[in-house]
Amino acid sequence: MAQDSSRPDFWDTRYRGGVTPWDAAGVPPRLKSWLQRHEAKLRVLIPGCGTGYEVRAFAAQGHDVLAIEFSDAAIEAARRELGALSERVAKADFFAFEATPFDAIYERAFLAALPRRLWPQWAARVAELLRPGGELVGFFYFDDNERGPPFGISRERLLELLAGTFDLVEDEAIPLKESLPVFQGKERWQVWRRRL
Ligand SMILES: C[S@@+](CC[C@H](N)C(=O)[O-])C[C@H]1O[C@@H](n2cnc3c(N)ncnc32)[C@H](O)[C@@H]1O
Repeated sequence: MAQDSSRPDFWDTRYRGGVTPWDAAGVPPRLKSWLQRHEAKLRVLIPGCGTGYEVRAFAAQGHDVLAIEFSDAAIEAARRELGALSERVAKADFFAFEATPFDAIYERAFLAALPRRLWPQWAARVAELLRPGGELVGFFYFDDNERGPPFGISRERLLELLAGTFDLVEDEAIPLKESLPVFQGKERWQVWRRRL
């Protein structure tokens, strides 16, 4: 199996082989409750969307959602899952595609999919892709494991990456019963707001 998770073939092999322990097979409950509380219609980016279940949830609430992926196999999985909503999924590299800034970026198992050497680039890119006041919302995986993915992060490291540009405005542990085994006890819901 390919070993460098910064490359699409790493993910192609896993999606094609059905080795996807991160795949929630649906929309996480904590995202559903966030969506119910937010009525304003947002332009939302989902980087590294995988099977892309959340695309339907954002679209159903009237949000203008764009999901991106660089793995062909993941895009195929998203198309099978989303049917007509597949038009919201585009093949693109998070670090290289062109877009005007979004109101929100949804995070789940994307930061943890990136080799740690790419994290400073991830933080700069998230700041670039969000308008001032925009929010990075979703699930973050906290661990001190050496090998990944998933590559766990520490609270200090995440703060170091984001505190220059963002304020942490929500931070909650995810109940064990809402986590997949691979993330259990180590997952938090967080919202980071880009400073004006
Ligand atoms: C662990 S999976 C998570 C998928 C999805 N977010 C989920 O929660 O199921 C990480 C995904 O990020 C994608 N990915 C990694 N680096 C990427 C990049 N630079 N641009 C676009 N997609 C990327 C991979 O192809 C893979 O599908």
